[in-house]
Amino acid sequence: MSTTTRTTGGAIGASLDRIDGPRKVTGTAPYAYEHRVDNPLYLFPLRSEIVRGQVTGIDASAAEALPGVVVVVTHENAPQLADTGDRELAILQSGEVAFRNQYVGAVLAETFEAARHAAGLVEVSYAEEPHEAELREDGDLYTPEQLNAGFPTDTEEGDVEEAFSSAAVTLDGRYTTPMEHNNPMEPHTTVAVWKAGDLTLYESTQGAHPVQRTVAKIFGIDRNRARVVAPYVGGGFGSKGLPHANTILAALAAQMVEGRPVKFAVTRQQMFTGVGYRTPTIQKIRLGADSEGRLTAVTHDVIEQTSKIKEFAEQTAAVTRSMYATDNRRTTHRLAALDVPVPSWMRAPGEAPGMFALESAMDEMAEKCGLDPIEFRIRNEPEIDAETGLPYSSRNLVACLREGAERFGWRDRTPAPRSHQEGRWLVGNGVASATYPVFRLPGSRATIRYEGDDKYAVEFGAADVGTGAWTALTQISADAIGVGVDNIELRIGDTAFPFASVAGGSSGITAWGSAIFEAARVFRERHGDNPSEGDEVQARTPNNPETENYAMHAFGAFFVEARVDVDTCEVRVPRMTGVFAAGKIINAKTARSQFMGGMTMGLSMALHEESLVDGRFGHVINQDFAEYHIPTNADIGEMDISWIDEDDPYVNPMGSKGIGEIGIVGSAAAVANAVYNATGIRVRDLPITPDKLIQ
Ligand code: MOS
Repeated sequence: MSTTTRTTGGAIGASLDRIDGPRKVTGTAPYAYEHRVDNPLYLFPLRSEIVRGQVTGIDASAAEALPGVVVVVTHENAPQLADTGDRELAILQSGEVAFRNQYVGAVLAETFEAARHAAGLVEVSYAEEPHEAELREDGDLYTPEQLNAGFPTDTEEGDVEEAFSSAAVTLDGRYTTPMEHNNPMEPHTTVAVWKAGDLTLYESTQGAHPVQRTVAKIFGIDRNRARVVAPYVGGGFGSKGLPHANTILAALAAQMVEGRPVKFAVTRQQMFTGVGYRTPTIQKIRLGADSEGRLTAVTHDVIEQTSKIKEFAEQTAAVTRSMYATDNRRTTHRLAALDVPVPSWMRAPGEAPGMFALESAMDEMAEKCGLDPIEFRIRNEPEIDAETGLPYSSRNLVACLREGAERFGWRDRTPAPRSHQEGRWLVGNGVASATYPVFRLPGSRATIRYEGDDKYAVEFGAADVGTGAWTALTQISADAIGVGVDNIELRIGDTAFPFASVAGGSSGITAWGSAIFEAARVFRERHGDNPSEGDEVQARTPNNPETENYAMHAFGAFFVEARVDVDTCEVRVPRMTGVFAAGKIINAKTARSQFMGGMTMGLSMALHEESLVDGRFGHVINQDFAEYHIPTNADIGEMDISWIDEDDPYVNPMGSKGIGEIGIVGSAAAVANAVYNATGIRVRDLPITPDKLIQ
C-alpha cells in the first residue's frame, strides 16, 4: 500500500535456508499423527458399499468381540451434532448414503491393526436407490447462483454473435479435463481429544482457525473451547483448505471415549474419496479474430460437476474474463449435481483447467491466423482489466513471454508441426501464458511482543503447508520490525495464537504479511525503537484501498520441449522454462520450489493425472499410486525457473504477489501445445496418454 512505509532491512528477498529445515530432516518437526498423546485409540472408518440409498442394518457383533476393539461407531449410537447444515460434514446423523465410500461408521481399537481388521468384520446392509455418478454433457444441468469466491456465474459484454459473423478467422474448440485427486505426501490426519467439554485437534490443515470455527459450530461449543494445532503440514494443495468429514469423524468418535485421544490418518486409497477433488470439466471455447490476428470475440462455456449434498461451483472460465483484449465476450458455467463426493479446491481451482482450454485454443488460433503464438498473445494484450474496468497494478505478461523466449531459444523452433525428428523422437516446442489473481483474505491478526534481549516474538495461527511460510514470514517480520531474522521468534500453526486466514488462494503472504507490517507500524508508534520487555501489540490485516483502483494479478509464461516416440507415442519433457512476474519475491529459494512444484503439477496434469470413475459402482477405480500416476524424478527434466523484477507498490507492503498456484496455471497447455508441434496431433482431452496420439 502506498500509505505504508516500506522498510529496506534486506531480509525480504534473501535466499534464506528454510528455518524449519533442520527440524524436518531430523524428524523432530511433529506432523499431526506424531504429536505425543497418552493412551490413544486408533480409528478405522467404515465406508458405504453403495452409491445412494439407506443403511438398513449393522451387525457389529463379530467386530466388537475382537480383542482390542473398544467401540464400533455408527449412526445408531453416534452423538448428535449441534449443526447439520453442511451435509458433507454432518456424518453418522442418519442412515442416508449420498455417495460411494461415504463414512457410515468407524471402529475404535487399541491398535491400528485391530481397528482395521475389525472394520472388515462389520456387516452393513443397505437399501439401494438409483444413482448418477458420471458427468455427462447431455445430463441434467443447472445454473448456480454464483461461483466460488463470489465470482459471477455468467458474464457477457458486447455482441458476440455479431462479432463472430463478421470475424475473418474463427475457431471452435471443445476441451475436457478429468477428475483429479489431491495427493499431498501427508494424508489427511486428525488426532482428536475431548477433555471436560474442551476439544483439541492435532490436525493436518491449511488453516487452524478455519477448522476451529467449523468444529465449534458443528459440535456446538464455544470457539475458545476448541483448539487446533498444526505447526507442520505435509502438503495440501487445497484439499486441506477446508475441513472434511474425516476430521468430524475423528472428533465425533472421540466424544464416545471422552478423555482418550483418537488418531485417524486416512489411507492413500481413502484419499480418493471425501477429501475433495478437482471437478472434471467440459469446456467449449470459440474465438473470432480480424485479419490482423486481433481477437474480436471470445466465448468460454463450461460444464462441471458438484455433489447433490453440497454445491461447489468452480470459477473455470474466470481467467477468460480478463486474459486477452476483446470487445465481445461471453463466459458461462453450468453444473451437474451428482451422487458423488463434494469437489473441492485443488491447486488453482478453476484457473488451472480453464487456462488449459484457453491457452490451447490460443495456440490453435495463432496457427489459423498465421502468427507466432507469442506474437499472437502480444497483439491481444489488454490495456485494462476488462472484468473490473480497472488498470492493472502491474502486468508483465509480455515481459515474461519475451524473456522466456530468449532463455528457451524459441527462435530455433520449427513452427510447422511434425517437422522435426531426431531418431525415434518427434520433437516440438510449445508456449502458454500463466495468470493468477492476488487474493487478500480479511481478518488475520498478528501479535508482536518484545521479549527482551533483542528478541521479538511474532505470533498468529498461520499454517505452513510445506511452502516455506515459516521462513518467508520470519523474513517479513525482520524487515517490518527493522531487525535481523535472528531476532525474530516466529510462532504459528496453533489457534492459541491470533486468527490467521487459510493458506489458500495463494493469499497467505499477502494477508499475514500485511498484518505483520501493520502490527510493526503500531508497535513502533506506541513503543518506539527501544521497547521494554513485554511490550506487545496486536493488529489486523488492514483493508487495502488500492484494490478499488487496480486489478491485481500475477503473470507468467511457460515454454516446453516435448519429445514423442514415433512408435509408442510415449511423451517425454526434457526441459521446461517458466518466467514469472509476481511482484517482489520474498525468498528466492523457497519461491523457486513453489514455481517448480506448480510446473511439475502442470506437467502431471498434462500427461498423467486422471481419476477414473466406474459409473456403475460410483467410485474411483485407480485409487492408489500404482494406477493414479504422478510424476517422479525420472519424468521431470531440466526446469529453468526465473522471474522478472517487478515493482508493484499497490499490492501490499511487501510488494509481493502469491506464488503457490501460478506455476500450474497454463503449464499443462504449454505441454499440449508442444506435443502438437511435435506430432501434428492436437489433444484436447487431458491427460495426453499415448492412446490419444496413436493414429
Ligand atoms: Mo489452494 S487450491 O487455493 O489451497
